[in-house]
Amino acid sequence: MTTQLAVDAVGVTKAFGQVRAVDDVTIQVAPGEVYGVLGPNGAGKTTFLRMLFGLIRPDAGTIRVFDKSWDSDGVGVLDGVAGFIESPGFYPYLTGRQNLEGLALLDGGARPGLVEEVLEVVDLTDRADRKVGGYSYGMRQRLGVAASLLREPRLLVLDEPANGLDPAGIRDMRALVKRLAASGLTVLLSSHNMDEVEEICDNVTIMNRGGVAYHGSITDLRAMAPDPGHLLDTNDNAGARALAADHPGIEVERAEDGLTVVGQEAADGLTVVGQEAAVAAYVADVVRSGIVLRVFTPTRTPLEALFFMLTDQEVAA
Ligand SMILES: Nc1ncnc2c1ncn2[C@@H]1O[C@H](COP(=O)(O)OP(=O)(O)O)[C@@H](O)[C@H]1O
Ligand SMILES: [Mg+2]
Repeated sequence: MTTQLAVDAVGVTKAFGQVRAVDDVTIQVAPGEVYGVLGPNGAGKTTFLRMLFGLIRPDAGTIRVFDKSWDSDGVGVLDGVAGFIESPGFYPYLTGRQNLEGLALLDGGARPGLVEEVLEVVDLTDRADRKVGGYSYGMRQRLGVAASLLREPRLLVLDEPANGLDPAGIRDMRALVKRLAASGLTVLLSSHNMDEVEEICDNVTIMNRGGVAYHGSITDLRAMAPDPGHLLDTNDNAGARALAADHPGIEVERAEDGLTVVGQEAADGLTVVGQEAAVAAYVADVVRSGIVLRVFTPTRTPLEALFFMLTDQEVAA
């Protein structure tokens, strides 16, 4: 028995002049899953999604959506597909509800009650009669999802839906995607932030400079994740560093400026990398020597560390 894939993209390539924006990318999305296309800025995520929507043509490769392709089905490939690329656009002087009603009309009218339903799903019912001009960025992104849902899609494609949102906005967007997935919708979303997607995606493709750097499940990715290192700050960092000589299993370096630490903006101090037990023994030694511990915290989550490694971005730790 074969299951029809929601998205079956094979060998997709697109160059802009010398830049191979998308280079031989193969992505398969099963119906009902939440699939993440991850990568740093410029990796090719938007270009891939624009090809899926038929906004630009691939130079090579094919994209089938629910078994339809641009070549054989033309715009019919978008039956059951909705979403937005980059940011959704709305009329700021109209209310959220008026924007949705207008869009529904343009699309040939929505069934009665649908506008209310989608407002409810994205948690905007209370704000529906306010002008979009006064909406926060997160509310606009959610209204963008609502606008997509008006088409009652089977596949929702969201290009960086959490980009530019504050932590509360990211949490709301994540909860929304989870609700949509629970209702059986297939979701394909892009992000440049591992943290945003690791909880909601089943499978991911990590893109780097147009190519595929990883392809598989979040579970397998977690198993591959390296030790992210810890940040250590004390009242005597030179003394703490000297003690590392007694602990051959670990590496202690000066932390680079602006090192981003989970839950903190940036910090000075030392980075400690090594096996958990060896690191614990070293820190115990530091404390025993009378040095005062100020900070001891993971520099980033293991998955983030892996993401940085796979996409060869600057790793501060
Ligand atoms: N229309 C375009 N013309 C020329 N270069 C482009 C165009 N669109 C994207 N690019 C280039 O393709 C690469 C991938 O861009 P993009 O798909 O927007 O990445 P992402 O969405 O992952 O940030 C970048 O180097 C970008 O500058
Ligand atoms: Mg993009």
